[in-house]
Parts: sequence; structure tokens; C-alpha cells
Amino acid sequence: MDFFNFKDSRLYVEDLEVAKLACEYETPLYIYSMATLQRHIAAFNRALADRPHLICYAVKANSNLTLLNLMARAGWGFDVVSEGELRRVLQAGGDPRKVVFSGVGKSESELRLALSVGIKCLNVESEAELQLLERLCAELKVSAPVALRVNPDVDAKTHPAISTGLKNNKFGIPVAQARELYLHYKNHPYLKMCGLDAHIGSQMTSVEPILYSAEKLLTLWTELQAQGLELEHLDLGGGLGVVYRHETPPQPYDYYHAVSEKLAAFPGELCIEPGRAVVANAGVLVTKVLRLKDNGHKHFCVVDGSMSDLIRPALYDADMTIVNCNEHEGTPLLYEVVGPVCESDDFLGHERSLVVRPGDFLAVRGAGAYGSSMSSNYNSRPLCCELLVDEDRVQVIRKRQSYEQLWENELL
Ligand code: LLP
Repeated sequence: MDFFNFKDSRLYVEDLEVAKLACEYETPLYIYSMATLQRHIAAFNRALADRPHLICYAVKANSNLTLLNLMARAGWGFDVVSEGELRRVLQAGGDPRKVVFSGVGKSESELRLALSVGIKCLNVESEAELQLLERLCAELKVSAPVALRVNPDVDAKTHPAISTGLKNNKFGIPVAQARELYLHYKNHPYLKMCGLDAHIGSQMTSVEPILYSAEKLLTLWTELQAQGLELEHLDLGGGLGVVYRHETPPQPYDYYHAVSEKLAAFPGELCIEPGRAVVANAGVLVTKVLRLKDNGHKHFCVVDGSMSDLIRPALYDADMTIVNCNEHEGTPLLYEVVGPVCESDDFLGHERSLVVRPGDFLAVRGAGAYGSSMSSNYNSRPLCCELLVDEDRVQVIRKRQSYEQLWENELL
């Protein structure tokens, strides 16, 4: 459930009219709803309330400082995958002791920063990364908290581009190899093997894949325990899907309750790294209809938002709901909703039934996750303004980028 609703044919975000905000702050524009974010945060807290847990929000889904600050104030930790994300978390007031650092290609300087700020855990993805970490720890005379990210070889049954737990993916370490590494590094003076991690994919709409992954983690944990290695936490990654149009994903409570039951024998802390399910439906991308165009074959609705603002349709063929912020009477036509960028794949939706006029504002729903955070300056388009609405109050949480900022680091 979210707080973007129609009243008298006008789309509201909480108590404010979306089209009015679009006029005032100009488009393309991201708008987030505080009540929706808080509702989602509460739903995740409730889902794991009956066991020791830590929710590490996946920063990549939406890395705006204000949103990170909201998660930090909810007591959440963070899953980061780069120095930039780690610095954002610190800048937003996040607690480094609640940060896990994932990623297959952490650089030496990223590892040094993670060690120096004292994060909760490094999710290590290869033997070579472990060896680098060993060298850095010996040099700096510090110990490193480590979880191995295993690749359970499971089909997450999602889009191939966002499936990460199969053996032909670059992510993680095969379970058998991870077992050997754990035992090899068991009593290491610097590397502290404290957790076990997996992340198998994103936008999962059924519970089976994550249960399979949990089962694999549990088996490995049991084996390691029998060998005298005590792990403090199991990290199941992120991946819970959301409704974009016709999907029927489980609710966080049902999803994580099933996972928690599967892991009933594990007494330690359960970590999860949700991103999309926290923020996707808390945000919309608002775009203005520039003109309508009919080439005798198709109807085009040309808008001022593009793949540079929201790349999910172009990149994953993502099918996201598009609504007119001011519904009006008329006969709907099937439109290709396209942006101004010079690429045939610059579209926000195919074959959308809309009653639409130039000057109308359209909202792409579910755009709070992997929208702004994946946007670019392609075609020298400035990054959008972002607003956070709380009842009838509006806060600019990112100013629209200026043209000067586009080239400020370039030398003439
Ligand atoms: N943890 C790790 C290690 C991850 O790689 C990811 C996402 C997450 C957690 C969060 O997963 P979530 O709960 O958001 O599903 N850009 C794509 C999604 C890429 C996801 C990458 N990893 C999209 O727009 O669909």
C-alpha cells in the first residue's frame, strides 16, 4: 500500500496534488512519500521482530541522503557496494558498525576505508579478496569482520539481468569452496569469520528461491559449527519484489516469517538487505507531456522524462504503471510513451492506454527504487529535482542539477 491516491480524478501524494508540485518544481521530477516509506520500514521491522536481526538497507536502490538518514533514524544498517555508498551512509548519519560491504570488485582503497571506519562486516566474494584483506589487516594491524558470500546456484526466477545466484553469475563463492575457506581461516589472527551471506537476485515474487538459499546457508552453518566455527549472523541479502503492474509478491511479513522459520535452528542474528521493497512504491517520476505524434502506424506520447531519468524500461523492459495525474474524459488511445533522448529504446512505457493532452503530467509509479540512483547525464540532461512529501509539507531533498554543474569538472 502507498499514499499516492486519486481524489476527484487528481493524483495526490499524501495531502498534496502531484500536478501542482510538478508546476512548481518543474519536470522531470521525483516525488517520494514519507508515510509510504514509514509504512514500509514498519512492515520490515514487524517481519523480523521476534528474533535478533539487523536490516541493512541496500543503498543502491535509492541513495538520497535524506532517505538514508530516515533509515538510520529507524535504527537500520546499510548494505553498500562502493566507497561512494559508504561515504554517503556516513554523511547521512548512518552507524558504520551496522554497515555490510558487498561486491565482487572492492578496491584496495575501499577495503582500507571500510577497515578504518569499523564496519560490521565485509561480504567477501573470492579467495583473492580474502588474501588482499589478509595483507591489509597485517599491514594496518587491525582485524576484519568477514562473511563469505556464497553462490547457492539457485534460480531466482526473475529477469536474467538481476539474477545473481546462479553458478554462471560472477557473484559469490561456490558452497564447497566457501566451506574450505572458512575452515582454513577459522583461527586466523586478523580475519574474523563472523557471518555467512548470500544474495540471489532481485524482484523475486515468490518465497521458494530465498527458502532454497536459506536452506543452503543453514546446512553450511551446521557443518561449520560441527567443526567448531561459531558464526554470529546469517545474511540472506535482498530481493523481495514489488507490484509494478501485474505482479503478486508476498508481503514482507509472510516472506520473512517463512525464512525465519526455515532458520529456526540458527540462534544468531538474521541480516537482510532489502532495497526495492522499501522504496520502489514510495516514489513516482513525474513527467510532462510535450506533444503527441501520430506516424500513421503508432501513437507517440512524447514526454520530458527519459531513459536518463529512469532507465529501467530501456534496460530490463520493465513494465511500470503510468497514470495521468489529472484524469480527463475522452477516448483512450494506445500510446508509446517516449522521451526526448536520441535512442529508440528511450521509452517509459509501450502500448499504454491513455487519455492525454499536451501539458498533462504523467506519473510513472514504483519509481522510488533504481530510478534516481541509476539516472545519468546522457544527452547532457541535468539530474532531476527530488521532493519528499510528508502530509501537506514538501521538502526538496535534491535540487535539480544546473547546467554549469554538468561540465564543472571538465577542462577547456
Ligand atoms: N544486496 C545485494 C548484495 C545486492 O546486490 C542487491 C541488489 C540488494 C541487496 C538489494 O536487492 P533488492 O532488495 O533491491 O532486490 N537495477 C535493478 C536491480 C538491481 C539489483 C542489484 N542488487 C532493477 O532496477 O531492477
